[in-house]
Amino acid sequence: MSWDTELYEARHNFVWRMGEGVVELLAPRAGERILDLGCGPGHLTKRISESGAQVVGIDASPSMIGQARQNFPELHFVLQDAASMTFDNEFDAVFSNAALHWMLDPAAVVRGVSKALRTGGRFVAEMGGKGNIQTIVDAVHHVVGKYHPVPASRQYYPSVSEYTAILESHSLEVRMAQLFDRPTPLEGDAGMENWLKQFKLYYFENLPPKALSEVVADLRPKLHDSSGWHADYRRLRFVAVKV
Ligand code: BEZ
Repeated sequence: MSWDTELYEARHNFVWRMGEGVVELLAPRAGERILDLGCGPGHLTKRISESGAQVVGIDASPSMIGQARQNFPELHFVLQDAASMTFDNEFDAVFSNAALHWMLDPAAVVRGVSKALRTGGRFVAEMGGKGNIQTIVDAVHHVVGKYHPVPASRQYYPSVSEYTAILESHSLEVRMAQLFDRPTPLEGDAGMENWLKQFKLYYFENLPPKALSEVVADLRPKLHDSSGWHADYRRLRFVAVKV
């Protein structure tokens, strides 16, 4: 997927602002070697580095890696697909925020994470979990389905049991896993329209412009109130240790 990094940085910076709690859960320490999986434009890579840890940020998107290098030239970013990593026993921790749900071969990703960690190293992550943005997905499918068959999903939102089974089958002992609702405010009256343009544009590429407005109209009574728009995010957060 290609990313509009300008819109991402301007309107969707909640992705890393709301990910700060995951960095706290990681509790990075000076001298540790940490891999940031799906680092995007690098803001949390930077936060982790402030602990004194040595961080490597990887992402499969050239535009995201370009933005990360521009934002934080002092840090180390690598263009790399998480499903084909070859790191070997070299990290104290692997961190990931809001990225694993874009990775459609979770077993390959978790195999690479496990191999990248030293024994006793930790995998600390948060991603979209089962039921994530269900109201938005239903509205998009309803409208897009009026024009042509709905394309296959490009995201993966697993349940606790589904993802922990994958972790456990790759020598990662699950110490904590939770699924929780995290309604996410979207800035301004164009908040939902901007969100759809950023994250779901591929659904609308060959449709008349009114299709996107139809989705926004469908969602207004469900996800807009006196405080503005929110997206019905649901997160899966976990800590697992390599055994
Ligand atoms: C998420 O972070 O859950 C997400 C972001 C964009 C599109 C779909 C889900």
